[in-house]
Amino acid sequence: MARPSKLYIAMVGLPAMGKSTVGAKIKENLEKDDIKVGIFNNGDVRRRMIPGNTSNPDFYNPANTQAAGLRERIAAVNFAEAKAYLSTEGDIAILDATNVSRKRRETLRAHLPNHPILFIECINDDPELLALSIARKARLPEFAGLSEAEAKKSFVTRIGYYRHIYEPPDEAPDLVRLDTLNNRILSERISAGLPYYGRIRDLLMSDWIKNLFLVRHAESEYNVRDMVGGNSSLTDKGRKQAWGLSRHFIGTPLPYIFTSTLTRTLEMAEPLLETRKGQTTHHAFPEFDEIDVGECDSMSYAEIERTRPELFAARTRNKYNFVYPGGEGYATMAGRVYRGVKKALYLSGNSEYIMIIGHQAVNRMILSDFLFRRAEDVPYIFIPQDKYFHIVSTQTKKLFELRKF
Ligand code: F6P
Repeated sequence: MARPSKLYIAMVGLPAMGKSTVGAKIKENLEKDDIKVGIFNNGDVRRRMIPGNTSNPDFYNPANTQAAGLRERIAAVNFAEAKAYLSTEGDIAILDATNVSRKRRETLRAHLPNHPILFIECINDDPELLALSIARKARLPEFAGLSEAEAKKSFVTRIGYYRHIYEPPDEAPDLVRLDTLNNRILSERISAGLPYYGRIRDLLMSDWIKNLFLVRHAESEYNVRDMVGGNSSLTDKGRKQAWGLSRHFIGTPLPYIFTSTLTRTLEMAEPLLETRKGQTTHHAFPEFDEIDVGECDSMSYAEIERTRPELFAARTRNKYNFVYPGGEGYATMAGRVYRGVKKALYLSGNSEYIMIIGHQAVNRMILSDFLFRRAEDVPYIFIPQDKYFHIVSTQTKKLFELRKF
């Protein structure tokens, strides 16, 4: 069968909007089918052409004509390399740059008239994620000479310059707008027969969870006493289990570990973090905190049954929709837990492995999303403390495995 014709993909978006992750996702997935995809990143060319320090925000100031000229030259090198790639072995060339001004996109189109160009605009308006992404960028080698606060400030100034010249790519003949946090297509205008678009569109809206290890904290003081809520520590047995978890994952790189803000998940992560200093980024998200049991905090189930029989009965009748007075229920915590998952996936980008250490109710909610369980059954999913769920969810593979550690 003849190969479809070739395609340029031009990313559009402010820095830290998830453009490079989208580019990597397209490359990695299409290459599995022998489609040759090259990524042409302006930042890489910049670092190659100007080995000195280009992290200075003034380099991105549109009023700095000398730097602007240099950035045009960098873009031109990138266009030429992308074009050369498609004229030889390449099938798809991804131009991974901000491309936020109309003028820049016109230059791009003028340089690359020989194949269609799909513009993918990446949008993420979430201020918290932006702040977290900026913190991650601030740790990049190019900011090595700066303190963390200086690096963040420098990056925020850089974003500000791009924001100032941002013109939505409305003029692009083939355009898809993507909400990169939710993998949601916000709008699209695509010519009939645009090569590879069916594949790419499906990818853009698919999860890309290469390996998620979903762990529950090990035995806690409250677990032993069958109590809910509180903020107890792990027992001695629980600490041993935590070391067992860490040993089990020796040899598996875990660039990101996410926990709740509660002591028992932090202690569960401790041995893992202790043995992976400098190799793992840890985020403690309140979105992953255990169900808030409100007025029942620090009570045992038996005590709730004895002192609040009406609550106990109501919960037994409809556990999913029951809401603890002054607290939460499964139904009401769903939104924040899913948001935690989205945040974790967004921040970990195209990482091969990530881990979430959560709690019984939280992990049930996370699992329910992958298992398509009926809501009424979610509060009963079995969540052991000596096993973890290995989850893969991509366009081509769904895996769900309960494994002992
Ligand atoms: O018992 C441990 C625990 O994590 C409690 O903190 C929490 O209230 C409970 O599990 C959630 O499980 P269930 O909804 O079955 O009570």
